[in-house]
Amino acid sequence: MRKKVTVIGAGNVGATTALFLADKELCDVVLVDIMEGVPQGKGLDILEAMPVEKRDVKIVGTNDYDATANSDIIIQTAGFPRKPGMSRDDLLMKNYEIVKACISEAAKRSPNAVIIVVANPLDAMCQVAYKVSGFSKNRVVGMAGVLDTARFRTFLAEACDVSVENVTAFVLGGHGDTMVPLVRYTSVAGIPITELIDAETLDKIVDRTRKGGAEIVQYLKTGSAYYAPAASTVEMVESILKDKKKVLPCAAYLEGEYGVNGLYVGVPVKLGARGIEKIYELTLTDAEKAELQKSVDAVQELVTVLEPHLG
Ligand code: LAC
Repeated sequence: MRKKVTVIGAGNVGATTALFLADKELCDVVLVDIMEGVPQGKGLDILEAMPVEKRDVKIVGTNDYDATANSDIIIQTAGFPRKPGMSRDDLLMKNYEIVKACISEAAKRSPNAVIIVVANPLDAMCQVAYKVSGFSKNRVVGMAGVLDTARFRTFLAEACDVSVENVTAFVLGGHGDTMVPLVRYTSVAGIPITELIDAETLDKIVDRTRKGGAEIVQYLKTGSAYYAPAASTVEMVESILKDKKKVLPCAAYLEGEYGVNGLYVGVPVKLGARGIEKIYELTLTDAEKAELQKSVDAVQELVTVLEPHLG
C-alpha cells in the first residue's frame, strides 16, 4: 500500500509540495483547504499530469478533513505569507489561529503521523503544532533549515562555480534574520569553504542567506517563496517515508541541547520513520554560541507572546 501524505493549505507552497510529492511518486496526497474548489481544482490538475509524468499516485483535493484520516505525514502550509516590508514575525497571531485550527482537525484523524510545519513564523508555529497535537516531540518537526541551507548552498556553489551537490552546509537557529549559517561546518567536497572563498565574499553570502526569504518577497510583492520551500519539505518527507535517516537541519523541540529548554529551534537532526530520531549537538565556538543565543532569544520572544494562548 502506498504511503499517504496530507498537505494542509492549497496555496502556492501547498500545491507545489503536492506536485513535487506526486512527481517523485512518493505517496498518495490529500490536499485540504477551507477555500471551496481550490484544493479540488489544483488536486485534479496535478492528478491529470500523472499519465504524462508516468506516475501512479492518487491526489485528492478536499475541504473535508475526514479524507485525511490515517496519513503517515501531515504537512502544515496553511497560513498567510508575508508581503514586502513585513517580517515573518508579523504573521504571528493570524497564523497561530490557522495552525491551531488545522492541526487540531488533522492530528486527531491521523494520530500516528509525523507533522511537518511550514507556516511562518516557523519556529513559533512548530510550538503551536506540538502543543495542539499532543504528539511526542519527535513527531513534530519544522521545515526551515533545509530551505535556508539550500539558499546558502546555491550562493556558495555559484561563487565557487561548482556543482550544488558538492556543497555541504548547515544553518542553525530560528528561521529569521538572526539565523546562523555555520561557515566552519561548510565545505565543497570536504574542502573547507574558507579555503575557497575570501572572508568578505563569505560575509556577503551569509548576509544574503539570512535575507533569502525577503529577497524573494521583494520580487514577488504579493507573497513569499514557494518552489524552494516545497522542494525542501519534500526532501524531509522522503527521508521519513523511506526511513533514509538523512541528517538535515530542521526545527526541533530542544530540552537541554544547545542550552535551550522547551523551545523549537533549527538544529541538525536525523529524520527517519519515527520522525526526529536524533538531535546532533555540535561543538560551537563562543562567537557561534552568542549568535545562536541571539536567534534563540528571537524565537523565545514570539513564543512568550503565544504562551498565554497555548496553555
Ligand atoms: C522563506 C519563507 C517562506 O524563507 O519563510 O522564503
